[in-house]
Amino acid sequence: MSNIFEDESLVGSRRKNPIFKDKKPLDHRFLPDKLVHRDEQIRQIAKYWVDVLDNVTPSNVTLYGKTGTGKTAASKFAREQLIEAANNENVFVKIEYIRCTDYTTEYQVIAELCNRLGRDVPNRGWTKAEVVNAFRELFRTNAFGRKLHLIVILDEIDILLEKDGDGILYTLTRTDNISVLSISNYLDFKNLINSRVTSSLNDKEIVFPPYGANQLSDILNERALLSFNDGVLDSDVIPLCSAMAAKEEGDARYALDLLKNAGELAFDEDSEKVTSDHVRRAKDRIEHNKVSEILSTLPLQQQRLLEAILTLTKQGEEITSGKLYEAYSDVSKSDAVTYRRIFDFINDLELLGIISTNTVSRGRGKGRTNIIKLQCDEVLLETALYTI
Ligand SMILES: Nc1ncnc2c1ncn2[C@@H]1O[C@H](COP(=O)(O)OP(=O)(O)OP(=O)(O)O)[C@@H](O)[C@H]1O
Ligand SMILES: [Mg+2]
Repeated sequence: MSNIFEDESLVGSRRKNPIFKDKKPLDHRFLPDKLVHRDEQIRQIAKYWVDVLDNVTPSNVTLYGKTGTGKTAASKFAREQLIEAANNENVFVKIEYIRCTDYTTEYQVIAELCNRLGRDVPNRGWTKAEVVNAFRELFRTNAFGRKLHLIVILDEIDILLEKDGDGILYTLTRTDNISVLSISNYLDFKNLINSRVTSSLNDKEIVFPPYGANQLSDILNERALLSFNDGVLDSDVIPLCSAMAAKEEGDARYALDLLKNAGELAFDEDSEKVTSDHVRRAKDRIEHNKVSEILSTLPLQQQRLLEAILTLTKQGEEITSGKLYEAYSDVSKSDAVTYRRIFDFINDLELLGIISTNTVSRGRGKGRTNIIKLQCDEVLLETALYTI
């Protein structure tokens, strides 16, 4: 049998893709040479970090902003620039990027930092104190007799704080020569931190506002030049992607996803051009993939809870936690979990963005109630729930 990868149709599409010149620039992880509309934020990071070039530990910094507002990209951009500048100045500085979805406990982060700085530490087995001591040693003794400065970027820090508490910030801010740049989606992330940690953190805050439609167009235009062949994008494609993403809280990642998926649809259909119709269908495809992907990873009881939320939504009911528990018990029957556990599930589903909750006051003496709302398309959810 001939090799499937050498099939004529595949070879043809590899050799010359009529739509894409290079798909990489449309990938989330691609770091462009310049970040339009983020000069101000990058300049602010640089203003604090520049101290390290004079051997002074920089202030701790926190970047806030909703999803897709360029926080990760800006921090990586600033990191590359500082590495370059430090090489020219001969300063001994390391800037380590840690995504807290990959390292979710203080132990894991500190062990990873040790390993990256050349001190082997096992991923488990030591006590936390042992790992922290090994880490601190790195800053006390230095084989080169030079002072090591470390800037730690803790991206998506909320996840670590929720899972493992604020010990990581305590340890890092109480070790000499370390500066932390935290990245959070929530303005109130300080609520997850003890006041003794807040005072040693003493951070400078930088806000990343959502992008407007015109700004998103500028971002997409830059990427489109690198990714698409000349003239394949209809003139209304980028404005439409931008307008749709501006509605989704100014999320540049979503705008890029729309553009990429629209291009892929056009390619799959052998179309010579990418049109606004492709963009609209790309929106459905993204939404569908998102919902199915999330659902497929949910434990059974949480799927049942969603089923109950869907049923109540379809009945046009206002969903309180009490009502939801009743509906959920109907779906789950004998193996239903307790009422208290349901709150954890509601929390998890909210973090995933499938539902939202809103606490309302029922008036004096009547207490407060949680109102739950579905945040994804009903039809999509229904299809996804019954096809997994
Ligand atoms: N100003 C910009 N110029 C060019 N590309 C950008 C800009 N802002 C964001 N992007 C791109 O949009 C995508 C999302 O940005 P990024 O990952 O930095 O968002 P984020 O704020 O970290 O979001 P999240 O909170 O979800 O992690 C990335 O591919 C990034 O390269
Ligand atoms: Mg990010």
